Amino acid sequence: MSKAVLEVKHLHQYFEKGTPNENHALKDINLTLNQGDFVAIIGGNGAGKSTLLNSVAGSLPVNYGQVKIDGQDVTYQNVNKRAKLISRVFQDPKQGTATLLTVEENLSLALKRGSWRNFWTRGVKHNERQLFKAKLTSLGLGLEDRLGAEIGLLSGGQRQAVTLLMATILQPSLLLLDEHTAALDPQTSATVMELTDKIVQEQHLTTLMITHNMADASSTATGWSCWITGASWWIFKEMKRPA
Ligand SMILES: Nc1ncnc2c1ncn2[C@@H]1O[C@H](COP(=O)(O)OP(=O)(O)O)[C@@H](O)[C@H]1O
Ligand SMILES: [Mg+2]
Repeated sequence: MSKAVLEVKHLHQYFEKGTPNENHALKDINLTLNQGDFVAIIGGNGAGKSTLLNSVAGSLPVNYGQVKIDGQDVTYQNVNKRAKLISRVFQDPKQGTATLLTVEENLSLALKRGSWRNFWTRGVKHNERQLFKAKLTSLGLGLEDRLGAEIGLLSGGQRQAVTLLMATILQPSLLLLDEHTAALDPQTSATVMELTDKIVQEQHLTTLMITHNMADASSTATGWSCWITGASWWIFKEMKRPA
């Protein structure tokens, strides 16, 4: 039997509970992702997509229900504690990277996930540089020649591709993609989506992707997709899962 990586059980989230403006944003959400599942969740503005991702990532305290990752109950763990298990790529390419650091320095930070804030000093080791070069080459965007460039000088798509590498360089238990192609032009968005599929498949990553783009959701090669409305979910397309 496949191992459950993410289990969301009877999750409810309210905003402004007990006031006239009370908003029951998530109602009894139940979701299980097994090892290697790539699930896309689609929904319009205000459907509750970010609320769900924030609940899983720990940036929003859970009102009712339970979140388990790798079998551990993380419902009351904060973001930093969960960061050992979760990597997240945001809509804004600037959010996952340090603008004034170089591409290789950003990747070097990603190798020290969880502990870098206190201990990271500038400088990249030779063997790290070789690893980054190989990883960047595999993206096919020519970024292996930009290792020493400030990441702020890259285009949005290039930067988001590096962010994806940073998020996956240490094999997270769970990868969260938060409308990570939404800020890109259609062609760049398609390229980043292709890279996403490639990385997810190569590393057999368990991935939850939020999107409002129907095409992105239905093109994931390994997963299935759900529609979220806050109150209900419909899995509308089941695709082949990795063997
Ligand atoms: N911090 C907040 N305070 C009050 N209401 C919020 C907050 N965040 C989200 N909401 C409300 O919760 C609902 C779901 O929002 P959200 O999860 O951001 O939707 P989506 O990401 O699908 O666009 C919306 O009605 C939104 O207005
Ligand atoms: Mg949102």
